[in-house]
Formats: sequence, C-alpha cells, structure tokens
Amino acid sequence: MSTEFKHDVLILGSGAAGLSLALRLPETIRIAVISKRQLTEGNTYYAQGGISAVLDEEDSLESHVADTLDAGGGICDEETVRLVVEKGPENIRWLLSEGVAFTRDQPPGTGYHLTREGGHSHRRVIHAADATGKEVETTLVSQVRARSNIDLFENHIAIDLITGSKLGLTSNRCLGCYVLDKDTDHVDTFLAKFTVLATGGASKVYLYTSNPDVSTGDGIAMAWRAGCRIANMEFNQFHPTCLFHPHAKSFLITEALRGEGGRLLLPDGTRFMPEFDERAELAPRDVVARAIDHEMKRLGADCVYLDISHRPSEFIVEHFPNIYNKCLKYGIDITKEPIPVVPAAHYTCGGIVTDHHARADLANLFAVGETAYTGLHGANRMASNSLLECLVFAQLAVEDITARIDEISLPESVTAWDESRVTNSDEEVVVSHNWEELRRFMWDYVGIVRTNNRLERAKRRVNLLRHEIREYYSNFHVTNDLLELRNLVEVADLIIRSAQRRRESRGLHYTLDFPKIDNRFQKAPTILIPDNYTP
Ligand code: FAD
Ligand code: SIN
Repeated sequence: MSTEFKHDVLILGSGAAGLSLALRLPETIRIAVISKRQLTEGNTYYAQGGISAVLDEEDSLESHVADTLDAGGGICDEETVRLVVEKGPENIRWLLSEGVAFTRDQPPGTGYHLTREGGHSHRRVIHAADATGKEVETTLVSQVRARSNIDLFENHIAIDLITGSKLGLTSNRCLGCYVLDKDTDHVDTFLAKFTVLATGGASKVYLYTSNPDVSTGDGIAMAWRAGCRIANMEFNQFHPTCLFHPHAKSFLITEALRGEGGRLLLPDGTRFMPEFDERAELAPRDVVARAIDHEMKRLGADCVYLDISHRPSEFIVEHFPNIYNKCLKYGIDITKEPIPVVPAAHYTCGGIVTDHHARADLANLFAVGETAYTGLHGANRMASNSLLECLVFAQLAVEDITARIDEISLPESVTAWDESRVTNSDEEVVVSHNWEELRRFMWDYVGIVRTNNRLERAKRRVNLLRHEIREYYSNFHVTNDLLELRNLVEVADLIIRSAQRRRESRGLHYTLDFPKIDNRFQKAPTILIPDNYTP
C-alpha cells in the first residue's frame, strides 16, 4: 500500500548539503530526509582532501576569492564567490561545534593543520587526514539520528517532484515528491511546505568516475522536468589522479598528495607538468587532467605515475593513511614507489540554477550542494570549494525557510501514484545494457577532449536511448535502475546540448574545433531553459 506523508520540509539527499540543512533548521520544524541507499552513501563520505576556508593569518579572503575566480576560467559569479568565501570560517566553526575532528597541527596546541591543493595560493584546506568526508558525514549522520524532529527514510528513491501545474492547480509551486520505497516496492507521496534537492552530482554518466553509484544526477533531471533552468552542464570536472588498477574502481588519490610534494611522472620516470604550466602539479585540475590525457595519448600509455616516495615514510603514512592502506592492498607501497594514476569524471560544476538563498525557479523548491548551479565554480571548480559550497548554501536556505515557514500552508492531499497500468519488466537486461552504452559513449565522445563530430554522434545516440527509455518507463513498474537510467539520459542530453552551445574552449570544456577562449561571445554561463519554464 502506498502511504502519504506530510512534513514542513522535505530534504532529498543525505550528504553534506542535505544533512547540514536538516541540522541547522529549528527543532520545532518537522523534517523528512530521503536517501536512496544508506544515509552515508554519497560523494560526501568519499571526500578526501578537505574543505577550503581562510583560517590562517597569512591568508586572506581576497586571495581565496582571486584563486577561485582564476580557476573558474573567467565565468564565476563574483558576488557568489565573495559570499561563499566570506562565510567559510564560520561554517568550519559550525562543523567543529557539531563534533567534526579535523587533523591538528604539530606541535599540539598550534591549531589545525592546513594543506594545499591545486589552484590555491595558500595553505587553506582543513582536513581529517585523507578521509575528511568520512569524518564529516559520519558526524552529521550521528547528529541527525539524535534529533526527534527529523524522520529518516533510507533506501527510498525520489522519482519526480509534485507540482501545482502537474495537478492542474492555478498556482504552480512545489508540493513535494513521489518516492519509491525500495523495501516495499510501493511509491509513496511525500508532501511538504518546502522541498530541497540535495541529491549530489551526475558523474556516474561517465564510464570512469571517482563517484559512488548514487551520483546519477537525479535532482538535476527532476528539476528540469519540473520546469527549472539548468546551467553550465558542459563543465564536468575530471579529477587528474585516480588509482589505475583493474580492481580499484577509480579510487581517488587526493590532490593534497601533490600539495605535499607529489610529482607526476611519465612511465620512463620523466616529470612532465612543468612543461604544461608554471604551477606544475599544483595547476588547476582542468590543466593537469588535460596534460595527463595528452601525454597518455601521445605515448599510448595506460596511465601516468604519481610519486611521493621522496618524502619521509612516517610523514606519508601519517598524512595519507587511507591511501597508503588502500594502495598497499593492491601491492603498491607508496612510501617506496610511484602510484599508477589516470583521470576520471569527478564533479558536476553545472546544475539547477539557484539564487543566493538556494531557491530554484519553482516556488518553494530549493537546490543545495553539487546538484545546484550557484555561480561559484564557473568553468572549473577549485579543489575543496565544493564541501564549502554545500555548507554555505544550506545555511542560506535555512535563513529563507525559517523566515517564510509560517506563511506557507501544508499542501492538501494529492492523487497517489498510479501503478495500475504497468507490469514488471521481464527484460532488465535492456536497462543494464543501455546504462553501459550511455556511460561508454559519454566517456568516448563527451570526455576531456571534445569535437563537433563527437558531440553530434553522442547526441544521436542519446536521442535513441531517450526514446527507448520513455517507452520502457511508461510500460513497466519503476525500479531503482530504471529511474537512474532515465535521469542519466536526461543529464547526458543536457551536457551534450550545453557543450554544443559553447563554441570555444574554456576551463573544463575543451574542443579541438574551437581550441581557444572566445571572450566576445561566451563570457557567460550556458543556461538551458525547459519548455515548461515560467519566469
Ligand atoms: P552527496 O554527498 O553526493 O549526497 C547526495 C545524496 O543524495 C546521497 O545521500 C544520495 O543517496 C542522495 N540521492 C541522490 N539521488 C537521490 C534520489 N533520487 N532519491 C533519494 N536520494 C537521492 N569536495 C571537497 O570540497 N573537498 C574534497 O576533499 C573532496 N573530495 C572528493 C573526493 C571524492 C572521491 C569525491 C567523489 C568527491 C569529492 N569532493 C570533494 C566533492 C564533494 O565531496 C561533493 O561535491 C559533495 O560531497 C557533494 O555533497 P552533496 O551533499 O551535494 O551530495
Ligand atoms: C581531492 O582530495 O583531491 C579532492 C578534492 C576535491 O574534489 O575538492
């Protein structure tokens, strides 16, 4: 049996964005948090390097702003950058007050250790060794579990937003969401005064990714279908250094390893980054990933190497225990030998267009974290600015929700999800085959280096898949895999269309047909507008 739930605030997603928002709302507000697997599963848990914020006397807000604008390739929204950077230190203090244990400096009593990453001109990344996300996520999860005003729904996957226009009402606003309970296999109705999309990124659209399986762009696809604008999807970030090993499933080797002296080497041991950029291994990510891609293609090599073994063994093991142990499991002792690495899809810089209170285009709908486009990252996100963005925009959304919650009434009951006309599919293989096909052609044609022809080829394939999946979706009972595939195809289409619009190379978008920046036409975000958008 399907059930109808009513809450003040419905939060879809349980990463840094969703959980910090839930925890910062007053305890008088009734909240539901929906998560499609266990609460901890999402990009946040796997974050390694840390969180950027100006915490050192020798650093300055101006410098953090300048580095972010520089990494962003000239199309960050400067007001947003300032807002986020200025709110950085207070958000780190908030995490500390929730119990997050960041790594302390040596000798004891001298504060917190700050590391460096690509694009940063100062040490400003606070971290918990090389497993910052695990520390942040597990702390936030234990806090939400202790709150009586927060109902947690694990193993539930959001399908689509419920909107006034879909129900034929005169005022179009977000009323909640239809959600598949994966344990009972029923679709429940969740109604709320405010709905927050905190569903993370979409890097699972690529064959090789540092992201866990849940990063399928569901929020972006749901918002698009509900009439919201989506921006800058051509800027998918490829992290330069993921472990190259048949069983490692794109395990990330943090940029902080390069921040602490790690050098990139060709298979014959030659260092190559200084030839590509004066900042060498600490150039922004787009530059390093492209240089690696170039060298691998030039030499026909399967990977390049990242070497930290010149640093003392105790230092390596103390600062990178997670990476040391993981590599050792695969027979690589990073204190003695270089690590084989390749680039992999890592971060979705674009997303749902939001304002400075994280409000999306549809009334009463918010989008926070990797799913949102705020203008902070421009054409390339600087390392460790993402968790910061999650925290700051959750805080800003909370201010707006708290100010308006008493003016909004809870939605009346709505029609339940209709399951009567669909049957169980006996061809699950179609879904898994299409998943594989989509992710492979996105990697081959819409990856680190693009061309007009490759994008056109990808567009034709995505059109075919969309048609097939639409038919499948209308005829069969919804499953987790089908819902994710439907969303991935939508997101792939948005990425390809955005890439086709940008007739220049900037930041993460590089095309051989327009290899230079063109400031005359393109110094702006790429905004896609759905047919059902109402300003
Ligand atoms: P996530 O943490 O990904 O959470 C999304 C949540 O939404 C999950 O709970 C997921 O299950 C849920 N969800 C998704 N779709 C649905 C649906 N349809 N229904 C219900 N639930 C749904 N950034 C930094 O700033 N510093 C770092 O050091 C860093 N390191 C990284 C290392 C790795 C390996 C990776 C992958 C990313 C890293 N990033 C880092 C990026 C950063 O971790 C993410 O951008 C950030 O954690 C995103 O947080 P989020 O809350 O927006 O999304
Ligand atoms: C890393 O630790 O290299 C990832 C940092 C990030 O994605 O911001």
